[in-house]
Amino acid sequence: MTAPNIARATDRARDTTETGGTGHATAKAILLGEHAVVYGQPAIAVPVRSLVARARVARTAAAGRMRSAAYTGLISRAPERVVPTVIALHASLAALGIRDDTVSVEITSDIPRERGLGSSAAVAAAVVDAVADAFGAAWGDDERHELVQAAERAAHGSPSGLDARAVRASGPVWFQAGRAEPIEVGATVHLVIADTGVRGRTRHAVGHVAALRAADPARIDGVIAELGALVASGRDDLRRGALEDLGAAMNRAQQLLEVLGVSHPALHHLAVAARRSGALGAKLTGGGQGGCLIALAADQEQSHGIAEQLRAAGAAAAWQTTVETTR
Ligand code: MEV
Repeated sequence: MTAPNIARATDRARDTTETGGTGHATAKAILLGEHAVVYGQPAIAVPVRSLVARARVARTAAAGRMRSAAYTGLISRAPERVVPTVIALHASLAALGIRDDTVSVEITSDIPRERGLGSSAAVAAAVVDAVADAFGAAWGDDERHELVQAAERAAHGSPSGLDARAVRASGPVWFQAGRAEPIEVGATVHLVIADTGVRGRTRHAVGHVAALRAADPARIDGVIAELGALVASGRDDLRRGALEDLGAAMNRAQQLLEVLGVSHPALHHLAVAARRSGALGAKLTGGGQGGCLIALAADQEQSHGIAEQLRAAGAAAAWQTTVETTR
C-alpha cells in the first residue's frame, strides 16, 4: 500500500530537481555618494564578496512555498517584509509567461537585513538569476536590472538603481543616472564595514532628505552638489591610489551626510572610534539612520586592528573587505 506514495514522492523530487535553478549576488557598500545619487549625482559602490545571498527556485507539485530566515510558508500568505522577494519571483516568472503559482523559492543569505548593505537587492537579484537559470531565460543585464528594480521599488519607494547594479558587480562601480561602469583602482583598498546593530531606515532617510530639500532647496542642493564633487574626486583618488585623499573625502562626506540628517549617534560613535584606530576615513554607508559604517585602512594589518577596535567599541559585527587594483 505504501508503494504508490513513495513513487509519487520520488516523482515530485525528480520534477523539482529537473526544473530547479540557482542564483546568487553579493552585498554592496557605498564608498561615496549615497543620497546625492537619488538627485542625479554619481556614486561609487564596491561589492562585499564575503556576504552572499543565494536563491534556489524549483517547480513543485503543490502551491509554491518560500523558505528563508525571514519567512517560511506558502508564498500566497507571505507577510509584508518579504513582499519584495515575492515581487522579484513573480515579475521574473511573468516575464517568461509563467503565471501559475507552483514555483517554490529557497533563500539563504549572509547579508544582514536593513543595514544598508543591499540585502533586499541582493536577494532579489539572486531570485531573478535563479528563475533565469531554472527556465532558461536569456536576459541581458538591463532586463535583469529592471526585474530587481521592481522588487526594490517595493522595498524602498523610488530607488536610484545603485543597489540593483552594485550587488551584481564583480568590482567597484561608478554609478550615475541608472548606469554602472567599472572604475580603475591604482592601489589595493582595504575596507572595514561595521554594523551598528541599529536597523537602517533607507526609505525613511530618503524621505527625510526630500523633506529637508523641499524646505530649503538652495542649501540642500549645495550639500548634494558637494557630495557629488567628492565622488568625482574619489574616483580620481582611487585611480591614483591616493588613499589619504580618498579617506579625507570620506570624512567630509560623513559631515555632509550628518547635515542631511541621515547619520545616527551609533554611526558617529563608530566613525570616531575608527579614526582613533588609524582609519584614513570613515563614514556611514547606504541609507543611514542606523545600519553600517565603512572605514578605509592603510593596509591589511591596520584593517584587522580597526575591525577589532570597532567590535570593542560596540559594533554588532565587523567585516574586512578589499578592492583589488586593476593595474
Ligand atoms: C541606498 O543603498 C542608497 C541611497 O542612495 C538610496 C538609493 O540610491 O536609492 C540612500
